[in-house]
Amino acid sequence: MCGIVGYVGPQPALEVVVDGLARLEYRGYDSAGVAVLDNGTLRTEKRAGKLANLRQALEDHPIGGEGAGIGHTRWATHGAPNDVNAHPHVDNDRRVAVVHNGIIENFSALRSELEEQGCKFLSETDTEIASHLLNKVLEERGDGDLAGAMRQACKRLEGAFTLVAVSVDDPELVVAARRNSPLVVGRGQGENFLASDVAAFIAHTRDAVELGQDQVVELRADSVTVTDYDGNPAEVNEYHVDWDASAAEKGGYEYFMLKEIVEQPRAVADTLLGRVTTDGELHLDEMRLTPAELRTVEKIVIIACGTSYHAGLIAKYAIEHWCRVPCEVEVASEFRYRDPILDQQTLVIAISQSGESMDTLMAVRYAREQRAKVLAICNVNGSTIPRESDGVLYTHAGPEVGVAATKTFLTQLAACYLIGLYLAQVRGLKYGDEINAVIAQLATMPDQVEQVLETVEPVKQLAHSLADASTVLFLGRHVGYPVALEGALKLKELAYMHAEAFAAGELKHGPIALIEEGLPVVVVVPSPEGRSVLHDKIVSNIQEVRARGARTIVIAEKGDEAVRPYSDVLIEIPAVPTLLQPIVSTIPMQVFACELALAKGNDVDQPRNLAKSVTVE
Ligand code: F6R
Repeated sequence: MCGIVGYVGPQPALEVVVDGLARLEYRGYDSAGVAVLDNGTLRTEKRAGKLANLRQALEDHPIGGEGAGIGHTRWATHGAPNDVNAHPHVDNDRRVAVVHNGIIENFSALRSELEEQGCKFLSETDTEIASHLLNKVLEERGDGDLAGAMRQACKRLEGAFTLVAVSVDDPELVVAARRNSPLVVGRGQGENFLASDVAAFIAHTRDAVELGQDQVVELRADSVTVTDYDGNPAEVNEYHVDWDASAAEKGGYEYFMLKEIVEQPRAVADTLLGRVTTDGELHLDEMRLTPAELRTVEKIVIIACGTSYHAGLIAKYAIEHWCRVPCEVEVASEFRYRDPILDQQTLVIAISQSGESMDTLMAVRYAREQRAKVLAICNVNGSTIPRESDGVLYTHAGPEVGVAATKTFLTQLAACYLIGLYLAQVRGLKYGDEINAVIAQLATMPDQVEQVLETVEPVKQLAHSLADASTVLFLGRHVGYPVALEGALKLKELAYMHAEAFAAGELKHGPIALIEEGLPVVVVVPSPEGRSVLHDKIVSNIQEVRARGARTIVIAEKGDEAVRPYSDVLIEIPAVPTLLQPIVSTIPMQVFACELALAKGNDVDQPRNLAKSVTVE
């Protein structure tokens, strides 16, 4: 949510910054802007809308830029997404330019105070107070020390923020501060970078420095200095990024999302790699939670948002069945406000692909305060949620640039299964044979995913035929219900269509009144094997909606002849154990939503109003 970039070094700062913004645009695309020092003068340009508008403006009015540079791509919080509210923001003397990710919660009081001191505000943003405040502090200090001013100013700010600033006092310097929002430094040779995500500078360097909470970094071409808000040297974590720039490029696909859907077999395989051995042993020592600790767990609570929440809902079915431990799943934004019951015997699993969702982060902090153990499932190395958790299981999906989660969702499922199976193993529970069989099946999932991808062509055609539909309903039972929820979410966010999912058994309690002639209803059918009652029930549900005129689009296991007579469209998926079925049944949903959105002419990588990483509550 909001992308920020900073650069100091011999390359033209403007080019490096704009290039970095292009790689971060998925974080927000309401507006974009840059500030550079040009022969000691602060030059800025900013435009509402996508980065292309800023690029055009820079072409029409070049602004030079020999010194340091910063840039921003915005997901609007305070103030409409227009040119004035776009970042950077500057003070009235045009001494300091600031870009910001997050929300400054006490901005209203600070704004009144600064207005009383004569500052004239141009925008409606909370960010603008930071530029005026920094200028005031610099005036008071009289030493032109931007880092010192930043440390002082941050002590007055409440909320979540990454602030990045440049000043005319020191044209070869970028200063940034971090509290609760992501910030990472890229160390180059005679040049240095900073950004909200390594993707911004991966084309230049893979050596990164992760900043901690409440730290300030001073970035010069030949040095990176990190301190706390009192100016004491701070400890930082240096690491090497294990993917390269090409992983975050489209590789010949028109959209990242199309590429990321196709990458799913690899992503699932990489997530299982080294964790499942051929003899059925699971190796999850990296989780930092010992078998002894896991044996004391009496309750599991899964917290997550959006698609990650759907992964959690699926995990509940698997974990309760395999481990016989009660498992609750809750939307992270609700969790800490309802006084949940947690103690040392509670294991909280926080699922977040970005590791930065503020709702989930706050829930993690709350859980740890209540002395629960927190295990994160995350795709971004070193991001805040795993850093603040007791343990982490990283998914290895690689960078996901499309705003809608696809490959990260499948890898979250793989990680949830691994955790459930591992818990069952270390707790020595009674389903030993079943556990071993599922572990063997899990290892085959990358091939099953590949098979689904080879057969999705009819789903694309179907999607194009439904481009004019006004509503699509999704039904599922058991693990098929969260898959239905995920299908509906994907359709809403990508195709901007009304879509709703129901547990198929709930249909008769109200939603069946929605069914009318021709209404598309997508049904996820559980495997007929082993759970035939469940299967029979959903076959009845399909008949119920069809009898009332619905057009049924049925996703069912290959060879499931029982559903064929009631399916207007039948989408076949490979036969896998029911609990693992979401890994294959989700894919037609993703393809369906993506193609329908493309048929409507939507940008599937950057759907309106959304951002990849939601760092506000
Ligand atoms: C939907 C989507 C969002 C995210 C949600 C949580 O396609 O991507 O619903 O799943 O914002 O994000 P993370 O997993 O980063 O915490």
